[in-house]
Amino acid sequence: LDVRRYLQAVGTEVKTAFVQDRTILTFDQYLDLFDRDPARQARNAAQYVKDVFDHYGVSEVETAVGKLRRFRLFDCEFAGGVGRIAGQEEIQAGIYRVLQNFVRNGAVDRLILLHGPNGSAKSSIVAAIQAAMEDYSRKSEGALYRFNWVFPSEKLGKGSIGFGGEQDGMGGELASFALLEGEAIEARLPCEVKDHPLFLIPRAERRRFLEKQLGAAALRREEPRSESSTAEGFTVSDYIADGELCHKCRLIQQALLGAYQGDFLKMLRHVQVERFYASTRYQVGLAVVEPQVSVDAGYRQVTADRSHGNLPPALQNLALLEPSGPLVAGNRGMVEYSDLLKRPLEHFKYLLGMSERGQVSLEHFTLFVDEVLVATSNEKHLVAFKEMPDFASFKGRIELIRVPYLRRHSLEEEIYDAQLRRAGVGKHVAPHATLTAALWAVLTRLKKPISERYSSPLRDIVDDLTPLDKLRLYDQGIVPDRLSLSQAKELRKSAETIYKESDSYPNYEGRSGASAREIKTAIANAAQHPAYACLTPQAILDELRAICRDKSVYEFLQQEVVDGYHDHEEFVRVTEKQILDRVDDEIRDSMGLVSEQQYRAIFERYVLHVSHWVKNEKILNRLTGDYEAPQESLMTELEGIVMPEDEDRGDFRRGLISAIGAHRLDNPDQTSLEYARLFPDQFRRMRDHYFQEHKKQLRRSKENVLKVLAGDEKGLAAKELSQVSEMLTIMHDRYGYCRSCAKDAILFLMRKRYED
Ligand SMILES: Nc1ncnc2c1ncn2[C@@H]1O[C@H](COP(=O)(O)OP(=O)(O)OP(=O)(O)O)[C@@H](O)[C@H]1O
Ligand SMILES: [Mg+2]
Ligand SMILES: [Zn+2]
Ligand SMILES: [Zn+2]
Repeated sequence: LDVRRYLQAVGTEVKTAFVQDRTILTFDQYLDLFDRDPARQARNAAQYVKDVFDHYGVSEVETAVGKLRRFRLFDCEFAGGVGRIAGQEEIQAGIYRVLQNFVRNGAVDRLILLHGPNGSAKSSIVAAIQAAMEDYSRKSEGALYRFNWVFPSEKLGKGSIGFGGEQDGMGGELASFALLEGEAIEARLPCEVKDHPLFLIPRAERRRFLEKQLGAAALRREEPRSESSTAEGFTVSDYIADGELCHKCRLIQQALLGAYQGDFLKMLRHVQVERFYASTRYQVGLAVVEPQVSVDAGYRQVTADRSHGNLPPALQNLALLEPSGPLVAGNRGMVEYSDLLKRPLEHFKYLLGMSERGQVSLEHFTLFVDEVLVATSNEKHLVAFKEMPDFASFKGRIELIRVPYLRRHSLEEEIYDAQLRRAGVGKHVAPHATLTAALWAVLTRLKKPISERYSSPLRDIVDDLTPLDKLRLYDQGIVPDRLSLSQAKELRKSAETIYKESDSYPNYEGRSGASAREIKTAIANAAQHPAYACLTPQAILDELRAICRDKSVYEFLQQEVVDGYHDHEEFVRVTEKQILDRVDDEIRDSMGLVSEQQYRAIFERYVLHVSHWVKNEKILNRLTGDYEAPQESLMTELEGIVMPEDEDRGDFRRGLISAIGAHRLDNPDQTSLEYARLFPDQFRRMRDHYFQEHKKQLRRSKENVLKVLAGDEKGLAAKELSQVSEMLTIMHDRYGYCRSCAKDAILFLMRKRYED
C-alpha cells in the first residue's frame, strides 16, 4: 500500500464531498446559495418537516376498511426499514394536516399532542419522523445552515481590534475569515440556538430582501388566516421574517459593529456559515425530552477560558450567556416531549407562550425558537389534565391526535416479524408464530359495536358480530359463513363505517387491550420455551396463557366480558383454533388431498353451468360439440356443500352471477377471476366438506410421518415412505416448516383435533 498516495486519494474525496456539500461558507456565498433557491432556504421548521413528509412521497393502501394514504417516510427505507411504523396511516394524516396549518399560518402556533394507550407507537412515530429528518438533512435539497463567529489569529493583521484591516491580503470588501483554516483561526464561537443566518440582516432590511426574493405575497398575511386561504406558493414564516438573533449573537454583532465604526460588511467577515445535519444522537435540531428533565432551556455564563481569552478586546468584557437544554438543541427541528403530562404543570406551562409567540422567556433574555413540538401522553394523564383549571388555556393551543392500538392483525404481525428479523431469536421461526401473537393481541382490543347506530338489516348483523368476526372483517373483509350473500355484501360494504364507529367515543376501540410492547416480550419469552426447538405457535400460546393468569399486572384483563368481547382467556382458544385451521389446511395440502387448485376447478365448472342456467342458455360440450342444458345434478351437488341451508337455490345462483358481474365491472383489467377470494365463504365450506371426507386417510398418513420423523420406519411400505418424504418436502417448500416444527405442527393437530 502506498500510504501517501492512499491518504491523498481519501483526502481528495473528502475535500470534494466537503465542497460539494457546501459545508462551510462565507456569508456572501450563503446569500448566493439563498438567491438560487430562496424558498428552500427560507423554510421554518414546520415547512421543513412538511417537506420531509413530501420528499419520501406517499402510497395508496387499499384495505378492507377503506383506502388510506401512507406517507412513505414511515417505511424508513432510508434506514433499511428499521423503525418502520406498521399502519397508523390516520395518525400520519393527522400530523401532516397540522403541519399544513402551521405552514399556512406562517408559524408553529400549536403543540401537537399524541395521546393513546401505553405502547401504541406514539414515540416510535416521532422517532420515525426524526430519523427521516436526519436523512433528509443529508441531501442537497434538505441542507440546513447555521453560523459561527470566527476570529482570526493576530498574525493576520493589526487593525483596530487586533486583526483585520485593509492589508490582510484577503482582497476586497467582502473578504471573510470564514474559510481560514486551523492555526489562522484564533477563536470560533458557535451559536447554540442555531440562529438562521438571515437574522444577521436587520429586520426591516430582511423583509425587503425576502420580498424581492420571494414576492410580496409570500410576506402578506390575511387575518384571520383561514383554511380557505391556501394560496399556492411560499409563505415566509414569522420566524424567518421577524425572528431575531439570540442574546449572545446580538452582543457579538453589536460589539463588532462598535469596533468597526458600524461597518456592516466588516462585521460579516466574522460570520462563518456552516451546514448542519439534524441528529438525534448529538441533539442537533432534534431532541427527546424525558419527563424527569425539568429544565428544558437554560443558560450559562461563558467563562473566560483559553479560547475566549484570545478574543479581541472589544469582546472580552462581554458577559456572554450561552443557552442550553433540549429546547435549544432542538431548535430549527423537532422536539418530542415524552410523557409530557406526567410532569408538574409548572414545568411545561411556558409551552403555552412558546407556541403562541415562538418565544421562551428566560430570566435574562428571550429565546426565539422555531421548532415543531410533539408531546406524547397516555390517556390517563390526559384525562387528569383535562380536569385541571389550566386546561382551558391550553385547549386552543394543543392539537390532539389520537394514537390507538392497531386493529388489523396483519399490521400487528408486521411489527413482530420486524422484531424477529432484526433481533433474531437464534432459532427457526415456525409458520404462524407471529400470527398467533397478532391475532390474540388484536382480539383483546376489540369492542362490541353499538348496533343501535345502524339501521336494519345491518343492525342485526352487527349485533351478532363476535370479536373474531370483527377481526376478520377489519383485516381481510371476510364476513361470517352464516350470512347470506346479500347480508355478506351489506356487511362488507359497511366495514369501514364499523371500523370508524368509535372514533368519536372517549372510550374508543384500540384504547385498551394488549400492547405491542407486552406481546414483543411474550414472543421473546416464547423463544426460550424448552419444549420446542423452533419458535412455535404453541410456545406463544403458552405465553399468552401465562399473561392471562397475571390479572393484577395487566389492567386490560380486569375488563368485564361483554357478549364475548374482552374474554381474553377465550381469545387464546379462539386464536388456537385459527392457527389449527391453517395448520390443518397446510398439512392436508402437503399430503396431496384435495388442493386449492382442485377447489378452483370444481368451482369454475359450477359457475360455468350456473351462468348458463341463469341466462337460460345451453352449454357447448367440447367433447361432443353438442349444445346441452346445464347439468342440474352437478349444480345441486356443489350447492349441497357451499350453500347455506335456508337459501333459495335460484336466488343463490343469481346472486352469485351478479356478484361476479359486479366484480368484473369494478375490476375491468383483471383477466382471470380469483373465485377463492371472491367467494371465500363458499371455498371455506368446500374445504370443510372435503376435510370430513378425508379425515380417515389423514390420520393414517400422519401416523406414518411421525414414525419416520421418530426414526421408526420399520413396517412402512416403500410407497408410504415416499409419501411421507414428499409431504415433508411440500411442508417445507410451500409453507416453511423445518422437520422439527413440521413434527410439532402434526402433533399439535393430532392432539387438538384427532385424538379421540
Ligand atoms: N404501529 C407500530 N409499528 C411499529 N412498531 C410498533 C407499532 N406499535 C407499537 N410498536 C412497538 O411497540 C413498542 C412501543 O412503542 P412506543 O414506545 O412508540 O409506544 P408509546 O406509545 O410511545 O408508548 P408509551 O405510552 O409507553 O410512551 C415499540 O417497541 C414499537 O416498536
Ligand atoms: Mg412513548
Ligand atoms: Zn445566536
Ligand atoms: Zn422449524
